[in-house]
Amino acid sequence: MGNLPPKELMPRHIGIIMDGNGRWAESRGLSRSEGHVAGAKVFRTISDYCHEIGIEVVTFYAFSTENWKRPIDEVTAIMKLFKEYLVEADEIKYERQKQGYILRFLGDIKGVPKELHHLIDKTQLDSTVENTTIVNIALNYGGRAEIVQSVKKLAEQVKSGKLNPKKITEDDISAGLYTAGMPEPDLIIRMSGEYRLSNFLTWQSAYSELWFTDVLWPDFTTDDLDRAIIEYAKRHRRFGGR
Ligand code: FPP
Repeated sequence: MGNLPPKELMPRHIGIIMDGNGRWAESRGLSRSEGHVAGAKVFRTISDYCHEIGIEVVTFYAFSTENWKRPIDEVTAIMKLFKEYLVEADEIKYERQKQGYILRFLGDIKGVPKELHHLIDKTQLDSTVENTTIVNIALNYGGRAEIVQSVKKLAEQVKSGKLNPKKITEDDISAGLYTAGMPEPDLIIRMSGEYRLSNFLTWQSAYSELWFTDVLWPDFTTDDLDRAIIEYAKRHRRFGGR
């Protein structure tokens, strides 16, 4: 743990767009799937570290609604990694819950293979202690689709006469998102030299600070995360005001 800022300057919610597994593997003459194996190890390290340093929410972009278009072998290898992780997480879920560490999945979970879907349902527990870290895994996730499903819920309420359309607020849209009740991401990190949000937390990122690095995800370390947090703390956030 480096020289992290005091608690009041720490981000409450960090979003991480994991990127570069494929390039990391190709540059070493390995298969892309081996890059994902390395990426999954780093995911474990960084999620555990976020708990250790007291981050309230960390959201990892693990698989987008677009990622199904990848070659079948690669998709199968990624799903295998998710399954391995879920089996492991399921075994230690109560222990973690007591330590203040819970998992949540954001995305269209009905659209993932049945076996994974079942494990996801089993693994998500509610928080039972104060200062819990929520580790969100965005899986089969798309930011625009998330907004659409929130709007559909509101449309149903309007249709049934429970909601006056003139009274719809931003909070109503937020309340229908997968992140309902969580703080919005203060800091979003993307690596591998890409400078896009790629449909990640599209609604929630309106005021997020963005931090980019050329490091590829399998090479990303807790020191890199510290650097991002330290720079975040130095920035003066105004939310459009003075
Ligand atoms: C990004 O690299 C990686 C993904 C889209 C795949 C999924 C992520 C992991 C396997 C790590 C998380 C694992 C768990 C268990 C939650 P890329 O393939 O887009 O890299 P490239 O841009 O170099 O092609």
